[in-house]
Amino acid sequence: MEGSSKLSALRTFLSKYNFMVHQKISIAFDEYDSVDQLSGEDAALLIEAQKAIAIAYAPYSKFRVGAAALLQNGKTLLGSNQENASYPVGMCAERVLLSTASSLFPGIPIKAIAISYRNELGESIKPISPCGICRQTLVEYESMLKYPIRLILAGMEGKIVVLPNAGTLLPFGFSGKDLQ
Ligand code: THU
Repeated sequence: MEGSSKLSALRTFLSKYNFMVHQKISIAFDEYDSVDQLSGEDAALLIEAQKAIAIAYAPYSKFRVGAAALLQNGKTLLGSNQENASYPVGMCAERVLLSTASSLFPGIPIKAIAISYRNELGESIKPISPCGICRQTLVEYESMLKYPIRLILAGMEGKIVVLPNAGTLLPFGFSGKDLQ
């Protein structure tokens, strides 16, 4: 018997007898060493995201984030984090960007979003890791428009991670289906 079918037979056996079943989720992503290795479209979008860092308003964290979206109609939109003296009021770059997209181009799918950052108090050499609220928002946007959003995650240097869709970032996510 093949390894995976043996495993599924074992799972069926265990669940029949109400034992614990060990499950695993793995995610697929591509990792690049530099921007020159990306496709022309992804490289151009990442450069836009890095330009958007200049319009971030992050006087409190000094962690400036820029994001750029490529829409299916060919338009590129920018977003950046916008903080507030009342800290929780601040908005991440990703959600500023999605609000811009849904206001200016409602119903137009987003093909890809590149996100980068400059940490003025430390290094900017790891790919950015979008926060949980932004993951939730990105996943809802792609499922609303039924179109995968490719994510290009970077810093100012170092490795770049490319994910095929936002859902990949949120296994076990809560969605509208859970409300049914
Ligand atoms: N931030 C983003 O804008 N996007 C992310 O993916 C992570 C965090 C912002 C929120 C806050 O203004 C600052 O970075 C520090 O958390």
